[in-house]
Amino acid sequence: MTGPAFQQCINPACGATYDVGQVIVACTRCGSLLDIKYDWGKLPTIKGMGFFEHRWSTKGVGVEGRLDFSGVWRFRELLPFYRSEEQIVTIGEGRTVLQQADLLGRQLGMAEGKLLLQYEGLNPSGSFKDNGMTAAFTHARMVGAKKVACASTGNTSASLAMFASLAQMQGIVFIGSGKIALGKLSQALDYGAMTLQIRGDFDDCLRRIRQIAVDVPELGIYLMNSVNPFRLEGQKSIMYRVMEAMDWQSPDWIIVPGGNLGNSSAFGKAFSELKELGLIKKIPRLAIVNATGANTLNELVSRRGLKWNDGAFDVTMVQKHYAALDESNYRPHTVASAIEISRPVNLPKALRALAVMNGMTLEVSDEEILEHRAMVARWGFGCEPASAATVAGLRKLRELQTIGKDETVVCIMTGHELKDANVTVKYHTGVDLSAAQEMAPRKEPTGRLANRPVVVDDDLDAILEKIRNSKLE
Ligand code: F0G
Repeated sequence: MTGPAFQQCINPACGATYDVGQVIVACTRCGSLLDIKYDWGKLPTIKGMGFFEHRWSTKGVGVEGRLDFSGVWRFRELLPFYRSEEQIVTIGEGRTVLQQADLLGRQLGMAEGKLLLQYEGLNPSGSFKDNGMTAAFTHARMVGAKKVACASTGNTSASLAMFASLAQMQGIVFIGSGKIALGKLSQALDYGAMTLQIRGDFDDCLRRIRQIAVDVPELGIYLMNSVNPFRLEGQKSIMYRVMEAMDWQSPDWIIVPGGNLGNSSAFGKAFSELKELGLIKKIPRLAIVNATGANTLNELVSRRGLKWNDGAFDVTMVQKHYAALDESNYRPHTVASAIEISRPVNLPKALRALAVMNGMTLEVSDEEILEHRAMVARWGFGCEPASAATVAGLRKLRELQTIGKDETVVCIMTGHELKDANVTVKYHTGVDLSAAQEMAPRKEPTGRLANRPVVVDDDLDAILEKIRNSKLE
C-alpha cells in the first residue's frame, strides 16, 4: 500500500489488504468484512483531542470552513482516507447535542448529571445516518460513482436520498413493503430517490441489493449500507463528539440500539483507535440493546455465549441460527421498525466492539420501548422508538444493578421524534393513522415533482427491469 489509508480484511487469519480506491464490501479472498486502516506513522501526529476544538466556532464558508463546520470532518485527522479536501461531500452534518437529562435520569434513579442523551436525530436528515453517509459519499466521489443504492428500514434511505440529491448522484433505495415509518418514506420520495418497495423485509432487501451491486457490475451501483466500511469511518465521529462534550473524560457506559450493528461496530473502532493513538485513557463499556422481536445479537451473545475470540468466533453457531430462522420462516417484528433486522451484517465487527469495550447485550420488549419513548419525549427532546430502546435498556440495567446510579451513562438517540409520528399518535390516542392511510382511496399524484414508490416482487429479474426502465438517466 502506498498511502497512509488502506482497506483490510477483519479476519486476523486472513488480513488481506486493498487500496482505498477499490470498491468492494467484502474480502475477495475469504468473504469477511473490511476495515479502513491507517498507517498512523505516515500521518501528522495528533497532539491531543483539544486540537479539534478551535474548529467549533467556524462559519462554514470555503473548503476548510465547511469541513470545520461539519461535526464529522472537524475530526478529519481521525478518518484520513480521502485524497483531497475538495473531494469531501458535506452538508453540515453532525452538529448534534449532548443533553444532560436530569429530569429523565430522576425517573430512572440516576444521580444528578449522570444521564446524558446524545441527540443524533438533530442531523440534517433527522438521524445518525448522515455521519456515515458524508464519509461514504466522499468515497463514492473519490471513485467516480454515479449511482448509489441501499436497503433500508427508512433512515438510511432518507439520508442516502438527501446526500444523493445534493451530491448530484442517482439514489436508489430498497425498502420492505409496509415496513417503513411514513416520515422516512416521505423523505426518500421528496429528495427524489428511486424508491423500490420490495415485497419482503429488510433482510431480503439487503440480500438483493448486495447481489445487484456485486453480480451486475454493468449497472455501476455503489452500495451505501453499513457493510461499506467508509460509512463506519464517519459514524466514529459520534463518539468523538460525545467525548468532546465531556471534555475528553470517558463516560462509564455507552448504550446504543442494535439493528444492523453499524454504530456499535464504529464505536468500538473509534475507541480502539483513540487508545492506540494515546489520546484517551479509559474506554467506556458498551451496552447494545435489541428489540425482543429482532434479537439475533442478544440471542447469540447473551444466551449462547458467542464471543469475538480474537477473530476466531464460532461461525457455525451463527450459520445454524440463521438456518433455524429460515426453517421456521421467521420474520423479525417490532414496533421499533428501524431495528427490525434478524441478520445483522456487521455482527463480527460488533463482537469485536464488545470485546474492545468490555460490552454486553440485552433486549427489551415493544411495550418497554413505547413507554420509554414517551418518557424521552416527556422529559427530553423526544426520539423515535428504536432510539428509546437504549433508555429502556438502561432501566433494566439499573434494576439488575449492572449500572449504578453514580455511573455516567450516554444513551445514543439515533433518530428524531418526528420520524415516526404514527407511533406517537397511536400511543396517546389509540388511533392507528398508518392503517387509515393504507385504506384511503388511491389517487394519482398530480404534483410536478411527484415521485411514486415502485412496488416490485423480491425477484432479481423483476427488480433489474424496474431499475433499467427507470427514468433516472
Ligand atoms: N436507530 C435508528 C433510528 C436506525 O434507523 C437504525 C438503523 C438503528 C438504530 C440501528 O443502527 O444498524 O447501526 O445497528 N437503521 C437502518 C436503516 C438499518 O436502514 O435506516 P445499526
